[in-house]
Parts: sequence; C-alpha cells; structure tokens
Amino acid sequence: MTDGEDTPGADETADASGAGGSADGATTGGTAIRRDRFSGGPARGFMSSLAADERIFAADLQVDRAHTVMLAEQGIVDDEDAAAILDALDDVEAAGHGELPDAEDVHEAIETAVIQRVGPEGGRMHTARSRNDEVATCIRYRLRADIFEALETVVGAREQLLDAAESHTETVMPGFTHLQYAQPVTVAHWILSYEGPLARDTERLLAALDTTNQSPLGAAAFAGTPFDVDRERTAELLGFDGTVANSMDATSSRDFLVETTSALTTLATMLSGMAEDLVVYSGRDYLEISDDYASTSSIMPQKKNPDTLEIVRATAGEAQGALQRLLTTLKGLPRSYNIDLQEATPPAWTAVDSVPPALEVATGALTTAEWHEDVLAAEAAAGFSTATGVADRLAMAGVPFRTAHEVVATVAEDLDPGQDAPEIAELEAAAEGILGEPLTAYVDAETLEATLDPVESVAMRDSAGGPAPEAVATQIEEARERLAADEDAVAERTDAVATALDDLESEVADYV
Ligand code: ARG
Repeated sequence: MTDGEDTPGADETADASGAGGSADGATTGGTAIRRDRFSGGPARGFMSSLAADERIFAADLQVDRAHTVMLAEQGIVDDEDAAAILDALDDVEAAGHGELPDAEDVHEAIETAVIQRVGPEGGRMHTARSRNDEVATCIRYRLRADIFEALETVVGAREQLLDAAESHTETVMPGFTHLQYAQPVTVAHWILSYEGPLARDTERLLAALDTTNQSPLGAAAFAGTPFDVDRERTAELLGFDGTVANSMDATSSRDFLVETTSALTTLATMLSGMAEDLVVYSGRDYLEISDDYASTSSIMPQKKNPDTLEIVRATAGEAQGALQRLLTTLKGLPRSYNIDLQEATPPAWTAVDSVPPALEVATGALTTAEWHEDVLAAEAAAGFSTATGVADRLAMAGVPFRTAHEVVATVAEDLDPGQDAPEIAELEAAAEGILGEPLTAYVDAETLEATLDPVESVAMRDSAGGPAPEAVATQIEEARERLAADEDAVAERTDAVATALDDLESEVADYV
C-alpha cells in the first residue's frame, strides 16, 4: 500500500480497532490504514495528536468533502463512490469526534471511519493527497474562523472605546511619564491612545487572515501528485482566496501561524499596559471598577481588587510564551514535512483562545468603570503638571522656549511639598531675575493664572492628535471612519467564506 506520504514509520500506524485489520500481521486488504507492522508501541500516545485534533475535526470533514467533490468532478473517483464517501462523512460528523476509531491523528481516524462505513471503496477518498497537505488545509480553515472571531472582538472593543471616549472629552485627568505627574490630559485622550493600537491590530489580523486563507490542498505529501487535481476548485469550495502554489511550501510553511500568533501577542502586550494603567488608576481612586470586574479579599473585608485586569495583564505572558514556543519549534526545520509541525499548531490556538477574551474583559472593565471626576480634576494639576503650559504660554508671548523653561523650572524647584502650582508673584520674581524685565511685558497676570488651570492647559493643546476637546473630537470622527472601513473589510471576507461554504453544501447535497 502506498498513500503518497513520507516516512512510513511515522505515517502508518497500527490500530487493532481498524476495520479489516488483521491480528496475524497480514495485510489489511485495503480496508484500513496499514496496521500490521507499525503498531505504535510504547510511543503511540506520545505520537498521537488525536485529542488535540478535536479542534480541526469539523474542518477535516469539510476538507474531505471538498476533496471528494473535486475528485468526482475530475473523474478521478466515480460519482457512486463519491456519494458513498460523502454520505459516510455526514455520518461520521453526526457521531462526533469522540466516536472516532483510535488512530494517530484525526485524518487517519476519519479515513478509517469512512472505510468502516463504505468498505474498501472508501479508501479512494485519500487519492491524490496526503495528511501533510490535508492538515495544513485544516489548520488554515479552522484558524480562519478563529481570526474572524478575534476580529469581531477587536472591532467591537474599538466601538466601545470610542463611545466611552465620546462621553469623556471634557474630563481632565493627570497624564504621566515615568509614572510621575507630567501634563493634564483628558480621559478621552487616554482612551484613544489605546483605540489607535487596536485599529492597527485590526490591520495586522486582516493581513494574517489573508495569509492564512490560501489553500495547500492538492500539494499531496510535498511533491505534487500524478492525478489531474483541480487545486483552484478545492480552494474555491472551501472559501480560500487561492492556493499556496509550490507544493513544498504548501505543506511545510507555517508562517501564517506566526503571523496570527504574533498579531495577537502584539495586541496582548499593548493590553497588558492598558490593564496596568487601570490597576494604578483604581489604586489612586481615579475610578471605581464595577463589581462585575472586581474581587474581594478572603481576609481583608474592605478590599475591592481589580483582579480581572491583573489576569488581563498576565495574558501577555501566555501569548508571548505561545509565540516563543511556535518560533522555536519552527526554527531550523528542514524541507519538507517534519512532524515537529504537529507541535507548531497548539501555540496558535493558545493565542486565539486567550487574547480575545482578555480584550473583551479589559474593555468591559474600562467602559463600566465609574470615573471619579472630582478626584481626577484635583489630581490633574498635581505636581505642577501645568508647568509645560506656562512655559509654552511665555514662549508664545515671545520668550525663547529655553529661557521660558528656565523661568518655570526655577519656580518649580522652590515649590513647597504638596504645592501644585506657584503663585503668580513667584513666577514674576523668577522672570524678573532671568529675563531682566517684568513678566507683564510679555503676558498679563490673568492669562498666566488661566494657564495654571488644568482645563485651560488641556484646551491650549489643540494640535492635531492633542488632548484639547476639539482635537479629540476630530480624532474620534476619524477613528469612526477607520472603524467603519474595517467593519466592511471583515464583512466582505465573512460573506465570501459563507457563500463558498453554502456552495460546498449544495455540491455535496447533489451527491448524497
Ligand atoms: N497529524 C499531523 C500534523 O498535525 C499530520 C500527519 C502527517 N504525518 C506524517 N508523518 N507525514 O501535522
């Protein structure tokens, strides 16, 4: 028996439960994958991916269906055999992954289950393919659905963040560098600083989706097939945008896993910072996390901890570990197929399973939190955070910025502990000393006084992308346009896949 695959030792594994298997070590009569010699032995469980393959069970059935339809259309198997195989696949699906016969992996198990139902003619299903192109196709098919789900989550989060920003364009808050009071900003401005990365995450996920959505099927083990397969047709039936042309590339490359895992890890890393901000803000009483996103202490009755956000913060570790595992597994793999590739898939599932839920929780915690506007307003000017605004005001009045910086720095150095802003008289004295002329020559006391107000300080900074309410309004408007375009891009792809899969269903229905 030959099935076009590579190392027989890894590929053809014994299974006493296989239909037609013979206990005496003779041949199987073609009714099951050859089990007379490669019985698995002590390494059987070690080798098997069957349990992990539950994730691609439904995908494999679809890949089997598309392949069988194509084989029939090409006249490689006759319609009667194709019908029997397609019928058996429905039956195998209804029985579920748990009812599959024992096997090295899901591909072998489903093939065996089909042969059990159809008899030897069921073995025609594996004509002109290998588990190598099959598994690569299954992973891409399943991952595509997971990326769609991740995209839905990211797009939904962006929408919620924009809504939250819209209601806080006037809510001043302290802005930090080095975790020290730096300059006042607004809650909206802070929120938008996280919507921007999420917009780029969306682009990265769309790019990963497009890389993923290419069909390896028909590449066989890695070296093509003598059968007249129609690779474009199976790609079309499965909703792929095209094929991975080179058959060695098709079976050996997992860069689509790297791209997807990396996009999600980038998101998780950003998200951990957002979670950290919220943990810090809740510790400073800038906001109160809703009870839904908080926990208490088993001993300290007064505690309300932002635990969900700390788990979000830790998710970056999970994603980064997964990406590292994936890259390390792929490093140095020779062409073409090696079963190390079987171990490259789980890290991608780790990323798609952990990161989108973390984003959902973080967005929920953020958008349901109650911002303490009084505390924020009081803190917004803390640590003389309007100092830059004062220097800017002097510079706008004609003082060289470096000199203005020095005037304000001199005053800042002499502030009493806890004093948030200098008296105008203190500024005047410092200016007199450094400029050699009264400050009023440049700017009147009233204007200067206003500059010490964090609300005014924010309003001044109306440059593009800045925190001033009208600058933020523009940012929100542009972000909404970008979001709408991304929603369209996702919908267009979702619809194309749904249409293709509907077509596959009716093609199959024509046979059974
Ligand atoms: N289960 C394998 C995987 O996930 C596919 C099996 C191909 N095995 C082989 N020895 N060629 O990659």
